[in-house]
Amino acid sequence: MAENETLALEIRHVTKRFPGVLANDDVNFDLRRGEIHALLGENGAGKTTLMNIVYGLYSPDEGEFLINGKKVEIKGPHDAINYGIGMVHQHFMLVPVFTVTENMILGSEVTSGPSLDLNRARREIIELSEAHGLDVDPDALVEDIPVGVQQRVEILKALYRKARVLVLDEPTAVLTPQEAEDLFQVMHQLTDKGVSIIFITHKLKEVLNVADRITVMRRGRVVGHTTPKESTQSDLASMMVGRDVILQVEKGAAKPRNVVLEIAGLTVEDERSIASVKDVSLQVRSGEVLGIAGVQGNGQTELVEALTGLRAARGEVQLDGQKLPFENPRFGTEHGLAHIPEDRHKHGLVLPYSLADNLVLCTYYQKPFASNLQRNDRAVDRNAVELIERFDVRSPSQYVTAGTLSGGNQQKVIVARELSRPISLLVANQPTRGLDVGSIEYIHNEIISMRDLGVAVLLVSAELDEIMALSDRIAVMYRGEIVTVVDAGQATREKLGLWMAGLHPGNA
Ligand SMILES: Nc1ncnc2c1ncn2[C@@H]1O[C@H](COP(=O)(O)OP(=O)(O)OP(=O)(O)O)[C@@H](O)[C@H]1O
Ligand SMILES: [Mg+2]
Repeated sequence: MAENETLALEIRHVTKRFPGVLANDDVNFDLRRGEIHALLGENGAGKTTLMNIVYGLYSPDEGEFLINGKKVEIKGPHDAINYGIGMVHQHFMLVPVFTVTENMILGSEVTSGPSLDLNRARREIIELSEAHGLDVDPDALVEDIPVGVQQRVEILKALYRKARVLVLDEPTAVLTPQEAEDLFQVMHQLTDKGVSIIFITHKLKEVLNVADRITVMRRGRVVGHTTPKESTQSDLASMMVGRDVILQVEKGAAKPRNVVLEIAGLTVEDERSIASVKDVSLQVRSGEVLGIAGVQGNGQTELVEALTGLRAARGEVQLDGQKLPFENPRFGTEHGLAHIPEDRHKHGLVLPYSLADNLVLCTYYQKPFASNLQRNDRAVDRNAVELIERFDVRSPSQYVTAGTLSGGNQQKVIVARELSRPISLLVANQPTRGLDVGSIEYIHNEIISMRDLGVAVLLVSAELDEIMALSDRIAVMYRGEIVTVVDAGQATREKLGLWMAGLHPGNA
């Protein structure tokens, strides 16, 4: 009994089946008051499903929950909120055109009489944000604030609803390293006040730095428990994927040849007509990886969108000696350009389409997938079966919709599609975001093999480790400009950090 009283949440024997998938298989999990409990596991292991069940979004086939030692029924998010459970989903659920205050009270509106009492809500939000050190402007429009701050709004929203158990599903996937540090501070402040946190992440360093305890899942089951004191990154990696993972990329020297991508004087404006890419010139050669390092929001997104036909731009871009027209994505795909986009839901997949269809999204009208306007289902199917196997996409079949896959498996579908057709240029933006360590190892090796086959690779990543591991040359982007381009061998983490912060390379 005394033991139970210390547990903020207990999950007992939860089983959840989807058609063809045992997503949770007799899962037990307990959360102590005031702890940060990391939930680790390979892509598709069942982490999000388990948390969605706790939050009342899915009902389990079997299992029960105890909160503060008492059995509870959670039939929907409303029950979960009443029991003090809050969840921050990986894809935020905020309304961009509403203010912070409006978003916070959405669904639990404060009224005085028949009218909405926005002022009172606003005051409460200010008090709450001061109490927890979560700095936000209650009057700002959500679309105008950076992701890190939007996340704070999500956390505040949970606290506004009096959450004592907070689920954070891959909260750092979209944050800059500084924003992630800020989040960890907030997490510690919350646990000091007795809030208990379930923290899902694929970044093993973070787990070792912030977790009190760690539970690992694989293929729907809990396969182990540990603590940061008892384990290393490689221990965690092998517990997750069930084999040893080589965390280091092994690659030989690049053999760069002809210029494949030539960017000259490229200027790109954002939604507010402010130049976010300013007169950028760059070359990427066949057989090399050019990495773009930079703090997120320094024009990388706009640069990639301009190159891949998703955004208007000025200047000149050539692909294999041919002028690349702007705002024409199909031209690129038909001329050997592959794109792994930053936002997999917006630009990577059609979620209601099957995996088979998503895997031919740029080629469905070409041979062998169609001839004389006639679709060849056999070829589309065969392609899907092969790619699912090769890229280890965890899915019951090629016929399920992309929307039902776990986040990491959705990412693998995009990578599989883009790397499996004949290409000369790969533009990869955050290619391994949300992937587990085993899949990162695989994708990194694939990118290097593409390079060795003569593909030119333009890599954008917020992970400095990834840039340093894969790049042959590194360009540093700051406030829309390329401040320097260096051979990867000359770049140290410290130097890159300084250049990314805007210090002139000559002085660093
Ligand atoms: N709504 C759904 N319909 C059908 N299958 C689903 C649904 N949601 C999840 N699944 C399946 O359940 C399994 C577990 O998925 P889940 O999203 O829980 O994984 P995860 O551990 O969160 O992985 P990731 O690290 O990639 O986010 C996957 O095989 C997935 O395809
Ligand atoms: Mg998930």
